[in-house]
Parts: sequence; structure tokens; C-alpha cells
Amino acid sequence: MGNAVPSMIPERLVRELSGSMFSAGISYRQTVGSTNDLAKELAETGAPEGTLVLAEEQTGGRGRRGRAWHSPAGANLLFSVLLRPAVQVDGVFALTMGLALSAVEALEALAGVGARIKWPNDIYAGEKKLGGLLTEFSARGKNVAWVVLGLGLNVSWYPEDLRNQATSVLAEANRLLSRQTLLVGILRLFEGHYRQVLAEGPETFQERWKEACFILGHDVVVVSDKERFTGKALRIDPDGTLVLETGEGLIRKVVAGEVSLRLAAGKTAAPNNKILTKS
Ligand code: BTN
Repeated sequence: MGNAVPSMIPERLVRELSGSMFSAGISYRQTVGSTNDLAKELAETGAPEGTLVLAEEQTGGRGRRGRAWHSPAGANLLFSVLLRPAVQVDGVFALTMGLALSAVEALEALAGVGARIKWPNDIYAGEKKLGGLLTEFSARGKNVAWVVLGLGLNVSWYPEDLRNQATSVLAEANRLLSRQTLLVGILRLFEGHYRQVLAEGPETFQERWKEACFILGHDVVVVSDKERFTGKALRIDPDGTLVLETGEGLIRKVVAGEVSLRLAAGKTAAPNNKILTKS
């Protein structure tokens, strides 16, 4: 599904983001190891809040849980933003959710694509993965020094070998959408959400998450580094903890892992990149 989507035009991007918090510093690269890595380097050398790093291609794009994130040059949206919020560590998840919600809202508004969020960091269209977020931060004690939120969104390409599990905006909307238009739309929405979280606290999005997160109310399979179990997803707390009922009124809380919807016995809808194999 390779396709030439409209090129990024950095000078125009600067104009389109003017007046927003993301006009502070834009690092646009043809090729970079990972936009998250560059944003983290910039964070450590004092770059201001709102620094935006975007690239046409990553040679070492990273996903969650040590996975690689592949995307051919010029096909998809690959970017990271640097934030310096006055929040504690348990407030970071709300920022990730703010960006995920912004992506979902922009996809609906600009492409007519009905996307949803899958805990903790994935963006799905139907049962197929459209994008993912990678959040990294540094803290002194409980206080956050900086947060880097990275988003990879399949605009015109997805891995062909994952055609049953992955999709793109092109495949969903049946038309090419400018990555730049999408990027500006996402960042404009995110700025509003970010300011709202800072002003009102991480609880502010809880209702919206409920609507946007497609696992809530469903039986899911949870896979973490240590175990695998099933349960009904009841809620997501503001700090990102997934709360499940695992039968007979037993409640379990999960802070990290992967989930997939539980289908008929013996089958799971794999969330992404081949990591789920039913044993
Ligand atoms: C996942 O689904 O596991 C998260 C994928 C995150 C990929 C994006 S692409 C831009 C940013 N830079 C990276 O190296 N990763 C994130």
C-alpha cells in the first residue's frame, strides 16, 4: 500500500502553526534515528516546551515494549512533541490520552475516519491498528521534568504482512490526506486538551476516554511481561491504570501491558505487531 502522499512543506508548517505552542521550535528532518530520541536529546539540552520534531523517515523508530516502528520515507506521520508540564508522574498518562484523543478527533474531522483508542497507547480503526504513541519522560522524584510524546500514524502505508491487523488513513478513508493538514489539526486540538489537563487535572478526560476507548465494557485478554489473563475492562483511572473484573467479583488493576478483545474461545484479535500468540 505504498503511495506518494503530499510532501511536508516546513515553511508552510511554520506558518500554519504560528501562534500555537508548537511554533517554539520545529525540527524537521528527512531522516532521523527516532523522533523521540531527538526530542529527548533536545529536552536534555534545554529545548523549550512545545518543541516539535518530525521526520519523513526513521532509521530506528521505536514502539512500545522494545518493538521497532517501521514506516517508509514520506508515507506516514512520524513526530514527537516535547512538554515541560508542572505535573507529577501519575499525571503523564493524561497527556498521552490528550494526544491520542486529538488524533482520533482530527481523523474524524479531517478524514471522516472513526478511530478509537485502545489502552494504553494505540489508535485503531475497527479491529486494525492505525497508529501508536510512545511516551517517555524524565522526573525528579515525583515531579516531571519533561515529557516526550511520540506519535506514528499510518497515513498511506501499513505493513503488508500485517494486513489483517493494521491499516492506514488511505485505506480507511479511500483518499489521500495531507500529512501536514493532519499534523496541524492534531496539534491544534492537542494544545487545547493539554491546557485543559493542566488547568483541571487528569480527571478531566475520563468521560471522553470512556467514549473513545473501545475495550471498556468488553472481555479482554491482558498480556504483560509476567502473565496473561482475561477479564472485563471496567474503567481506566486518570493515572492510566486499567481496572478489570476477572470473575466472581475479583478486581485486578494493570499498569502496563497489552490488551486485545476476547473473541470466540481460542482466538484473540491481536492488537498489533504480531506479539499475541494464543498458547
Ligand atoms: C507503538 O505502537 O508501539 C508505539 C509506536 C510509536 C511510534 C512513534 S513514530 C514517532 C515516534 N518516534 C519513535 O521512535 N516512536 C514514535
